[in-house]
Amino acid sequence: MLSGDIVKKRVLVVGSNGTLGQRTVEFYLKLKNYELLCCSVENESVIDGVEYFSRDITDKEAVKKTVFDFCPDSIINAAAFTNVDLSETERELAWKINVKGVEYLSDAARIIDAHLVHISTDYIFDGKNGPYSETAKPNPLGYYSRTKLASENALKISGINFTILRTNVLYGTAKNSRTDFVKWVVNKLRNKEQIKIVIDQINNPTFIDDLVQAISKVIEFRKFGIYNIGGPEFLSRYDFTLRIADFFNLDKSLIIPIKTEELNQAARRPLKSGLLTIKAQSEFGFKPHTIEETLLLMKSELAL
Ligand SMILES: NC(=O)c1ccc[n+]([C@@H]2O[C@H](COP(=O)([O-])OP(=O)(O)OC[C@H]3O[C@@H](n4cnc5c(N)ncnc54)[C@H](OP(=O)(O)O)[C@@H]3O)[C@@H](O)[C@H]2O)c1
Repeated sequence: MLSGDIVKKRVLVVGSNGTLGQRTVEFYLKLKNYELLCCSVENESVIDGVEYFSRDITDKEAVKKTVFDFCPDSIINAAAFTNVDLSETERELAWKINVKGVEYLSDAARIIDAHLVHISTDYIFDGKNGPYSETAKPNPLGYYSRTKLASENALKISGINFTILRTNVLYGTAKNSRTDFVKWVVNKLRNKEQIKIVIDQINNPTFIDDLVQAISKVIEFRKFGIYNIGGPEFLSRYDFTLRIADFFNLDKSLIIPIKTEELNQAARRPLKSGLLTIKAQSEFGFKPHTIEETLLLMKSELAL
């Protein structure tokens, strides 16, 4: 190695084809001092120009081989079974991906002393008295929530350097991912369609790139433990929708307030929720964008 050469840190992004995974990969691709390896369950990467392996995190041997061959300094786990209602019936699969997969990653991370960054959720709480701090007592309402809490517990006893970033209501899109909430609202209202939005679910929606910033900070500053990551404003989903409509100058009379129970969803949702982010702010300078700033970013990027 010549003096002046950069010693590159290696980062493995697991679940790189998901929404968060894609935004994370795009972030690290711009940095010169990181070597990146991506893997997700699909045959091919949805992002061009990256080193990619098709890997199922429920395949213990495949996880081991990937981690040992690449020997990353940090592993970012953006893979998950994220369908909250389907988790009620697809319990075995949800557990395998959300809990066993995390155990396999942490088993491999332990051998090579890698830092594992894992994403969790405010759904581990019952929504009776949010917003929640990192030390609040969990009480999950549904099976997805139980798997996510179990993944946290697996990491707590793993003996590795781990960071759990709990987040809530992610918004912002990636080029090749499903439509996010903001884009869905804009599309519906532009088509003059009525939308029914819950008025009794309160949280602090999180712009996906703010979560990516937090991931990069905990890796850079080697911050271990649990951190809440969320937006700067606590509001109902209905009020969030009004703000989106205002920003894009759309007809607010099409937004009909309803209660969560009217949706008859398979899994119960925490109602008075949200995550306090003071720990992340004070320990690594986490500073989320305001809602209007994020809508402006989305407007220019997605030509909304
Ligand atoms: N979205 C939210 O509002 C929210 C809120 C709080 C926390 N979170 C957490 O944030 C994280 C990222 O969420 P996201 O919104 O980016 O989810 P996402 O778009 O659904 O991405 C998850 C990715 O994991 C992949 N995956 C599923 N099973 C896999 C397996 N066995 N092996 C490898 N990859 C697999 C999925 O592939 P397929 O699509 O092909 O299944 C998908 O590409 C998750 O841990 C989630 O629990 C999300």
